[in-house]
Amino acid sequence: SDPDPLQDVCVANYNSSVTVNGYACKSNYTYTPEDFASMAIAQPGEPNIFGTKVGVANVDNMPGLNTLGMSWSRVDFERDGLNPPHTHPRATEIIFVLDGDLRAGFITTDNVFVNKLITKGEVFVFPRGLIHFQFNVGKSNASILVAFDSQKPGVQPVISMFATKPSIPDDVMAKAFQTSVEEVQKIRERLVPTN
Ligand code: GLV
Ligand code: MN
Repeated sequence: SDPDPLQDVCVANYNSSVTVNGYACKSNYTYTPEDFASMAIAQPGEPNIFGTKVGVANVDNMPGLNTLGMSWSRVDFERDGLNPPHTHPRATEIIFVLDGDLRAGFITTDNVFVNKLITKGEVFVFPRGLIHFQFNVGKSNASILVAFDSQKPGVQPVISMFATKPSIPDDVMAKAFQTSVEEVQKIRERLVPTN
């Protein structure tokens, strides 16, 4: 869903002091074939507390993607691993199951929960901006390949509300979730281990 390109290539110039929507372009003929290639998702990403590893190949680490309106990720799931509910404000996402059995789901703005068990070889799509997740429900590891129609989809995990900088005031969170300030603080501690 990114804007259309206005030229053949606009390889990201990470060092430019010019700020534009996306990255400024490298000067003509200074880009290299490597700018259009990446090994960023050749291996799993960094592990997180939910039993998943997310790796990305987007315009921030693959300069040739600038202005082209697409990018990849991969997600590797341990047993019971969850890619927790999140949205991508700038992209529709389509996934391909490389291995394993997952429950994939998204919720619409009418609050309909669209979800399905998906398996190796299956493709599933998450419409732009809608909250979605994938959960490994199989007996082994799982992995998915993820494509986006944005060079930088952006990720907003729902739970990040509890771990903003600075914090959203406890009373706002308690009211929003119809719970107590103590419970809000407990959730914050679980999500942001203080060590
Ligand atoms: C999967 O939902 C992802 O955004 O990587
Ligand atoms: Mn996603």
